[in-house]
Amino acid sequence: MTITLARLDPTGADRADLVAFLTGEDFPFHVRRTIARVDAEAAIDAGAYRDDEHDTYWLEHDELGRIGIVRLEDLADPVPLFDLRIAGRFRGRGLGVPALRATTDHVFRTMGDVTRFEGQTREDNVAMRRVFVRAGWVKEAHYREAWPVEGAAPVASVAYGMLRRDWESGTVTPVPWDDDVIASSERGR
Ligand SMILES: CC(C)(COP(=O)(O)OP(=O)(O)OC[C@H]1O[C@@H](n2cnc3c(N)ncnc32)[C@H](O)[C@@H]1OP(=O)(O)O)[C@@H](O)C(=O)NCCC(=O)NCCS
Repeated sequence: MTITLARLDPTGADRADLVAFLTGEDFPFHVRRTIARVDAEAAIDAGAYRDDEHDTYWLEHDELGRIGIVRLEDLADPVPLFDLRIAGRFRGRGLGVPALRATTDHVFRTMGDVTRFEGQTREDNVAMRRVFVRAGWVKEAHYREAWPVEGAAPVASVAYGMLRRDWESGTVTPVPWDDDVIASSERGR
């Protein structure tokens, strides 16, 4: 089973299919759970899916066909982010990890200046958090009450990262969480 990224043309040949995908799916862990047609079209026309900072790809499965999209963000920066959205009928079928691996491989293989790759999700998006961990990404932050939820209390936003050097070597560099190190080095001054 392979998943590949196919760059889409959001304002041209792929516009209608992209609008249909964005407006036809439910995204329970995004700031906006559903996207109105007018908003999808306005965002596409404003460059949110392809401009200097963004680029978007269909996720294509060799047997199932098109299973979703991934949008890359902050592309003018050496540390881009992504937004991965698998179509509802393909969720919960083990496609999250290969989709994230294909995205990570694409970014590091085709973007030589990218030193690290980042992603964030809501704390209650268990499937996405498991995907990050299973794909070898490292949790780097847990921003308490940072994710606004309409009509409810905010939840935490959890941040994960992948270093190019870890991707190249297949290693995992842990986060040095222990602040006692700072305290002991201050004592030594
Ligand atoms: C989040 C998303 C990418 C995960 O991909 P997926 O293909 O649905 O997930 P998988 O089937 O690969 O499952 C990954 C893990 O999460 C678990 N899982 C899947 N759906 C789950 C759910 N609804 N609740 C709890 N756990 C779930 C699976 O059991 C699996 O755990 P395991 O590794 O211990 O076996 C996908 O569901 C999606 O696109 N959701 C909507 C958009 C979104 O939230 N994107 C994330 C923003 S970055």
